[in-house]
This record gives sequence, structure tokens and C-alpha cells, in this order.
Amino acid sequence: MAKPYTMNPGFYVPAADRYQHMEYARCGKSGLKLPRVSLGLWNNFGSVNVHENSRQMLLTAFDLGVTHIDLANNYGPLPGSAEETFGRVLDSDLRAHRDELCLSTKAGYYMWEGPYGEWGSRKYLISSLDQSLKRMKVDYVDIFYHHRPDPDTPLEETMGALADIVRQGKALYVGVSNYSAEQTARAADILKDMGVPLTIHQPRYNMLDRWVENGEPSLCDVLLERGIGAAVFSPLAQGLLTDRYLNGIPADSRAAGPCVFLNESGVTEDVLSKVRRLNAIANARGETMAQLALAWVLENPVITSVIIGASRPAQIEQNVKTIEKHVPLSDEEKAAIRTILEEK
Ligand SMILES: NC(=O)c1ccc[n+]([C@@H]2O[C@H](COP(=O)([O-])OP(=O)(O)OC[C@H]3O[C@@H](n4cnc5c(N)ncnc54)[C@H](OP(=O)(O)O)[C@@H]3O)[C@@H](O)[C@H]2O)c1
Repeated sequence: MAKPYTMNPGFYVPAADRYQHMEYARCGKSGLKLPRVSLGLWNNFGSVNVHENSRQMLLTAFDLGVTHIDLANNYGPLPGSAEETFGRVLDSDLRAHRDELCLSTKAGYYMWEGPYGEWGSRKYLISSLDQSLKRMKVDYVDIFYHHRPDPDTPLEETMGALADIVRQGKALYVGVSNYSAEQTARAADILKDMGVPLTIHQPRYNMLDRWVENGEPSLCDVLLERGIGAAVFSPLAQGLLTDRYLNGIPADSRAAGPCVFLNESGVTEDVLSKVRRLNAIANARGETMAQLALAWVLENPVITSVIIGASRPAQIEQNVKTIEKHVPLSDEEKAAIRTILEEK
């Protein structure tokens, strides 16, 4: 049962045992430790959402040791409003705990009109981060990412902007997201020459999307070899890898809502058939489907953290329990899972 927080801002007292539920992993070879479960604010934290629910989710996460909050300039809707929601909760409840938080934001996707509002120019990245800092009401973020590769801007310019952002103290660490293995290796080399490490990558990775494992070298190979950490997004395939859709499409689910990245046509019989069988393996272990899906990602030694999304505090509680509950998968269980995932 989620702990109900007072509706009155300013009266939040964090749980004294908040660091006893979570494990922290070193991000690659850096000094930065991330919680194995992080919280992303892509959905359900915008200005269209009920602020009090967003606040309850942030405080639930913090009380469970989820110190890493993932944002981007365009999260909302409206774009920018998830950062504003975070800034509002920081002010109302978490300001005294800023140094216990690892905050990340990104720029890369469309944010404003004209030639400077998206992709990877120095002009866009530096002005976008300045806007993000204002919305989040902080002087610096802990991690700043380039959100997607830019086919036209020289990578030297994009990485140069990231290096300058670190030198200016506006971000402590930098990363890339959605970069291929080859693009990541080049970005890391360029940054290294500038004296700034590429600390983290943020790829999508889950039981249904294993691209990071493929290729010669794979993204996993590049990250491991260079000591770069990985915080992965959509570890639950936006909710498909949970019990959410096993008995139809609930009216309050992401697939039924306005999200353009998951709609009812994405909840296919093929996916459901896999999830039903994976769910049986999870239940036999005393875990939920979501917990098995998160644990499966976290068993990959390259992965530092899974960035979960949530629509209610109880989902965060269930997902964080993975860390306390999960017993490593046996060879037989791994083989059974592999068979289900590789079935055409
Ligand atoms: N770098 C990038 O390009 C990029 C792209 C996408 C996301 N991200 C980051 O990754 C974060 C997570 O992405 P995501 O939201 O797609 O992650 P996800 O964890 O795969 O999906 C989250 C959704 O799964 C459902 N869910 C979560 N826990 C559940 C549980 N225990 N039981 C049943 N359903 C559960 C909820 O859906 P309902 O809403 O239906 O309840 C929730 O909104 C984002 O917030 C963002 O920070 C980054």
C-alpha cells in the first residue's frame, strides 16, 4: 500500500529507512553510483496530469531509495512541463535533499520552432540545458545527455558542447542516448581527447527489444570495453512486459491513452502469448511479470540501472521490490526464457 503523503507541501519527512530497499551500482568505471531502479518522467508528470499523483510518485520513489530521476527537455505534455513538475516538487518537498538526488535531462528531439530547436548543434544543446535548469529550478544537473544522434552536425561539435557543459559546471557527467555501437565508440573517443569521459549511455533494452546485444561489436561490447555505464529505458516495454494487458486493455493504461508510442495495435496476440508464458515463469518464482522483466535486464552485467515509468505509486513499490526479492535466474530458467523470446 502506498504511503499517502500530506497534501500540504513543506511537511514531507523522508522515510528513515530509504536506503535499505535499494542497491546502487557504479556507472561504468566512473565514481557515480546509480540506484538499480531509476524513475523516468516521460509520461504521467506533465501539465495535463494530476499534479498530486506526480508528487506522490516522486516521494514514493525517494522513500524507496530511488535517487536517480530521468528527464528530458521535451517530456510532458506539454513539452517542458515534466521538468516544471519536478521543479515544483523539489521546491515543495525535496529541496533539502538535492544532494541526495542524481538528476538527468537531455536535448536532441524537437523542442522549439526555427533552426535551433532540435538535433545536436552547440547552439541548441547549450540553450536547451539553460532552459531545463530554469524549469527544474536547479543550478546544475548531474547527467546531461545528447538524446539522439544528429546525421548532419559534426560529432566533434556535439561532443564539444557536452564537454563545455561539464567545464561550465552545468552538468557533472555527460551521456548519449539512442546512439549505435559505432557512434558511441566515436563519441567516447572524441570526448576522451577533450579530457571528459563519456560516463553513460541510455538505450532502449528489454526482453522484447535486445538490439544492444547484437552486432560486432555490440553496444554492450563497446560499453563494457570502455567502462561506460548504461541506464536503460522502457525496461517493461512501456507496460507490455507486466500483467497490465493480460485480460484486455484497461481504460487507464498507456495503450488506451493518447501516447503515440504505444497504442492498442501494439498489444498483439504474439506479444501477449509470450508474456503469458513469461508470466507463468515469474509466478512460479513468486515474482510478478514486471519484476521478472526488470530482473532479467539487470542480470546483464553491462546494465547499471533500469529507468522505469509509472502511472501510480504502487507500481513503483512493486518494481523496487525486485531488488529485495529477486534470486538470480537458474540456467534452466534462462534457457526457458530464451526459447520464449526467440520464438518467431
Ligand atoms: N532516451 C530515450 O529516448 C527515452 C525514450 C523513452 C523513455 N525514456 C526514459 O525511460 C523512462 C521509462 O520509459 P517507459 O515509461 O517506457 O518505461 P517502462 O517501465 O517500460 O513502462 C512504464 C509503464 O509500464 C506500466 N507499469 C510500470 N510498472 C508496472 C507494474 N508494476 N505493473 C503494471 N504496469 C506497470 C505503466 O503503464 P500504465 O501507464 O499503463 O500504468 C507505466 O507507465 C521514461 O520515463 C524516460 O525517462 C527515454
